[in-house]
Amino acid sequence: MKIYLLGSLISLFFSFTDSNAQDKLQFDATKYEVQTQDFNGKTIKVRAYERIVYVANPVDLTHQILNIYIPEEYFNGGSINGYIAETAPIFFPNRVGGYMPAVPATFIVPEQRGGFPNNNKTVITALSKGYIVASAGARGRINKNEKGELTGKAPAGIVDLKAAIRYLKFNDKIMAGNANKIISNGTSAGGAMSTLLGATGNHADYEPFLKALGAANATDDIFAVSAYCPITNLENADMAYEWQLNKIHSFNFRGKSGVLDAESIKVSDDLKAAFPNYLNSLNLKNEAGIKLTLDADGNGNFKELVKSYIVASAQKALSSGTDLSKINAFEIKDGKVLSVDFDAYMVYLERMKTPPAFDALDNKSFENNLFGTTSIENRHFTDYSSTHSKDPNATIADKQTIKMMNPMNYVGDKQAKTAKNWRVRHGAKDKDTGFAVSIILATTLQNKGFKVDFALPWGVPHSGDYDLEELFVWMDKICK
Ligand code: DHB
Repeated sequence: MKIYLLGSLISLFFSFTDSNAQDKLQFDATKYEVQTQDFNGKTIKVRAYERIVYVANPVDLTHQILNIYIPEEYFNGGSINGYIAETAPIFFPNRVGGYMPAVPATFIVPEQRGGFPNNNKTVITALSKGYIVASAGARGRINKNEKGELTGKAPAGIVDLKAAIRYLKFNDKIMAGNANKIISNGTSAGGAMSTLLGATGNHADYEPFLKALGAANATDDIFAVSAYCPITNLENADMAYEWQLNKIHSFNFRGKSGVLDAESIKVSDDLKAAFPNYLNSLNLKNEAGIKLTLDADGNGNFKELVKSYIVASAQKALSSGTDLSKINAFEIKDGKVLSVDFDAYMVYLERMKTPPAFDALDNKSFENNLFGTTSIENRHFTDYSSTHSKDPNATIADKQTIKMMNPMNYVGDKQAKTAKNWRVRHGAKDKDTGFAVSIILATTLQNKGFKVDFALPWGVPHSGDYDLEELFVWMDKICK
């Protein structure tokens, strides 16, 4: 009897603390500031709800915060672009770059990170088209708490963004906007985060991390993904890069340029040779239902698929008047791009990174830093680099953490609710990761029945948000 009573008291206590914690996560519709901005000859007026802490047990008040912007019209029964308060989709842009910590995008201050999307313009464009904007910050690979613990290593960033999604869904009834129509957007590492959000909806792998942060009691699946040049599929990206750029030996990588030495060329050869096995293991199919493969030399119909995306990109450019005659890679006749010479195209593209492009042998890449722990700065995440490491103290990340950073592991997993709609762009002049990374993702999604709008836009380097008008046409199409 006594034990019974104690048990009930304990569970009562926990349900109280749990509901108290959840109370903290109630959206307060009265806590806003009115902000205005002129845009395209129109004044955009919004209610700005800024710096909302989106978890009950935050560990980082600089990054685990959310900015929400709601067009003023929606509070007066108005409509914008066919949307009203209850139906407006929620656009969810992140500002993650380089797997670094990120603060949320804002409506007012133009925040430009070097060469990267001006999320301020992205935010205003979305609002002008009637979208609610919710932008979350997230921890990243260099975060450290006052005890000196590294708090932003994988999977912290994606866990944070999922927690922010849960906040929006938890508050759907009391907040303007339709949380069943959340569209995530990001570039590069932020594009990778966007693909992870889309692939991993509600998957149990992330649950313990979300629980520890006191994430809102809600689901975290999203409606759609927009991703620009996602730096993703990290544990296979080294092979994809060398399959594509093996013959290009000059590099120019974050301020260091030169020519690959014999040892690096051997690494490139090894990685290139390993790619077909990986690609063939995926069992991808082309539109005709035929298996996409590569032979031991790296040739086959998967390579033809990659070439077809390059040709389509060049054709679009040619048809709109771009002069391609200086690029000695295309066979062009009567205004038609008939074919591309893969190797010649790579000469035009150039190599950025040295092999291995992501899991560096010195254990010092951005990605090595991402896969650290609370007490270890950097770790390897591939067997190849771990075996060939030049860092005598290096260790390798655990399989579960590596798994949780790769959307490929979740697309179509029955335990995950993967987003239905995807738009992926990878610039045809982007050399931060191989084209195959995005093409494998897009093809996997297509094969598993998801809707994918995929292209390699001509001449575009590693960047994002450069085609906002087209992005929002796509968003309107999937939302309406
Ligand atoms: C980013 C770029 C990279 O080349 C990389 O390896 C990781 C991240 C980025 O711009 O986010």
